Amino acid sequence: MCGIVGFSSRRHSAVGPLVNGLRRLEYRGYDSAGVALQSDGGIRVYKQTGKVGELEKLLKEKLPAAERDAFKMGIAHTRWATHGLPTAANAHPHVADGGRLALVHNGIIENYAALRAGLEKRGVAFASQTDTEVLAHLIAQFDKDDFLSAVTQALKQVEGTYGIAVMSMRHPGEMVVARKGSPLVIGIGEHETVVASDVSAIVAHTRQVIYLKDGDVALVTPDGVNVYTLDNAPVSRDVQEIEFDLGAVEKGGFDHFMLKEIHEQPEALRNTIRGRLDKTDGTAILSGLNLTPRELAAVRRLVIVGCGTSLHAGMVGKHYFESLADIPTSPEQAAEFRYSNPIISPDDWVIALSQSGETADTLAAVRESMRKGALVSGLCNVVGSTIAREVGRGVYLHAGPEISVASTKAFTAQVTALLMTALKLGRTRRLSREEGLRLVAEIERIPDLVGAVVARSNEIAAIAEKRCKAEDMFFIGRGVLYPTALEGALKVKEIAYLHAEGYQAAELKHGPIALLTEKTPVVALLADIPGKEKTVGNVQECRARNAPVVGVVTEGDEEAASHVDDAIFVPRTSEWVAPIVSVVALQLFAYHVARLRGCEIDQPRNLAKSVTVE
Ligand code: AGP
Ligand code: GLU
Repeated sequence: MCGIVGFSSRRHSAVGPLVNGLRRLEYRGYDSAGVALQSDGGIRVYKQTGKVGELEKLLKEKLPAAERDAFKMGIAHTRWATHGLPTAANAHPHVADGGRLALVHNGIIENYAALRAGLEKRGVAFASQTDTEVLAHLIAQFDKDDFLSAVTQALKQVEGTYGIAVMSMRHPGEMVVARKGSPLVIGIGEHETVVASDVSAIVAHTRQVIYLKDGDVALVTPDGVNVYTLDNAPVSRDVQEIEFDLGAVEKGGFDHFMLKEIHEQPEALRNTIRGRLDKTDGTAILSGLNLTPRELAAVRRLVIVGCGTSLHAGMVGKHYFESLADIPTSPEQAAEFRYSNPIISPDDWVIALSQSGETADTLAAVRESMRKGALVSGLCNVVGSTIAREVGRGVYLHAGPEISVASTKAFTAQVTALLMTALKLGRTRRLSREEGLRLVAEIERIPDLVGAVVARSNEIAAIAEKRCKAEDMFFIGRGVLYPTALEGALKVKEIAYLHAEGYQAAELKHGPIALLTEKTPVVALLADIPGKEKTVGNVQECRARNAPVVGVVTEGDEEAASHVDDAIFVPRTSEWVAPIVSVVALQLFAYHVARLRGCEIDQPRNLAKSVTVE
C-alpha cells in the first residue's frame, strides 16, 4: 500500500539515497518508517513510528556518519498499517533467520494466519503482529543456495498482494524484488540500482526504468537486473525513459503540494487537451482509444468504474455521455461493481477511471469486465501504471504527477478527458458538426476559465475563514453539479477532518434538513445553468433554518448572489464546463478551511495516495 525503496551501489553508501527516497514517497501517507542496511558485517535495522524525519533522527543517533560508507545496499519502507497497530515492532523491515534476512512489503498476505500457525509449529518465533513477517520467515525456510528460488518458493505459498524487496546475508550484494498487485519500478543507474514502489523515488538517480509486471521476480545487483517468472524462467522487460523531472515532484514555492496542484490546473488541462481537438470536423482525436468509428457506433451502454474522486468524475461523465452521445451510462463504485456479478454484454464499453492506475478495487473491476468480454479502456494519469498497461487502450490525462493525497488536478483532467470522449462518441451519432465545433471551442477555453477561479484564492480564503470553525457542512448541487457537491464534501472530509455531506439539492428536504442550524454551513452550487432556479429555492429552505449559505455563483449573476451569505464567483460557462470551474472553487475552499484549522494537508491522517488493497 505504502512505500518501498531499495538501493544497491558499488560506490556510494545506501543510507542517504534510502532516506531521500522515503521522503519522496511521504506524500502517499504512512504511519511508520524503517530501513535495513547491509554491509560485509551483517544487516542492521532501524525503525520507528511517525515520520521519516524521526527515522533520520534515530539514524543520526545510532549510526555515525563515519560508519555509513560500509553500507552500500539497503531496503527501506513507509508503512500504512493493515495488520497490527502502527508500532515500531510492526514497522518494516521485518527480519528472519536470526537477523540475517530482511524484508519490506507493500500489500496484504491474505493467508498469513494459516502460514503463521504452520511456521510457529516449526518453532519460528514472531516479533510482530503483521502479515508481512510471515513472508520473511517463509523465505528464510527455503533460503539455501539460490536466493531467487527461495523467494519464489515462498511466494508460491502466498495468497494476496505484494510488492517486496528482500536481502539476505547468505547472498551478500543481492536483492530480490517481486510484485503482484502492488507496483514496483527498478531504476538502472551507473553501477547502482534503485528500486521503488513509485518513480518519484527514482528520478533523482536515473531516468532509465523497468516497470515490473504482476508475477515478475527480479534479482538486483549494483550492475543491473535480471527478471524472472515465479517459475524462475528468465523474461525480458523493456527499459523505459521516465518523462517528468524532479521539479515536478517538488513544492515549487507553495506551502503544500495540494495548493501547487490546484494552481497547476490551467497548465495540466492544457496538456490534457493538447493535440486532441479537431477544429475541422468538430470532434476529438483520442488515438489511444484505438477504436474505429464503426466500433464506437456499436457501443450500446457505458459503464464507468472508479473510486472516490475518480468515481465523482465518472458521475459527471454520465451526464456528458447521455446528453451528447445518447448512450445510457452507469457510473459504478468499482468494488461494488466487481462483486455484483455484473451483467456485461459485448457491446458494453467499460471505462476505468483512476489517477494512479493502481487502485486495487478499480483494477479488479477492470479484470472482471475483461473476463466477461466487454470492451475496456482506461483513463489514467500515471503512465505505465497497472490499469493502463492491462487494458492496453485509453486516454492518458497528462496532468503531471499528483503528489497530494487529496486529488485535484486529476479530477478536472478526468472530467475534461471524459468531455472529449463524449464529444467523439457524440460525433459518431446525433451530434452535428456545428454542435461539435461549439464544444471544441469551449473545451479549448477550459484552462483559462479554471485559471480565473484559481486567481480568486484569496477571496475564497476570506470566506473559508468565516466557516472554518464549523464541525458539519453540507454541499448541494443538482444534475451535472451534484457530483461536484460530492467532491466538495469529500475534499473537506479528507483534509479538514470535519463532517461534510454532499446531497442532490432537492434531496435535502427529504430528511437531512433536520440537521440544519446556524452551525451547519451549506455550500450551494449555483452556476447559471438549467436548474439553477430550483437550487436557489433549496437555498431559501436552508436559510429559513438559519443555515449560513456559501454559493458558487456565475460572475454577474447578482440575482443568485443575493440569495446567499457569501458568493464565490466563477466564470460563465455552458453546463458542460460548469462542474469543472465550480469544483476548483470548492478545492480552494477545502484547502483554506483545512489550513485555517491547522490540518496536515498533504498527508491526511488514515489516508494513502493510492489504495492498492481491496
Ligand atoms: C481523492 O482525493 C482520494 N484520495 C481518493 O478518493 C481517490 O480518488 C481514490 O482512492 C481513487 O484513486 P485513483 O484515482 O488513483 O484510482
Ligand atoms: N500489510 C503490511 C502491514 O500491515 C504492509 C502494509 C503496507 O503496505 O504498508 O505491515
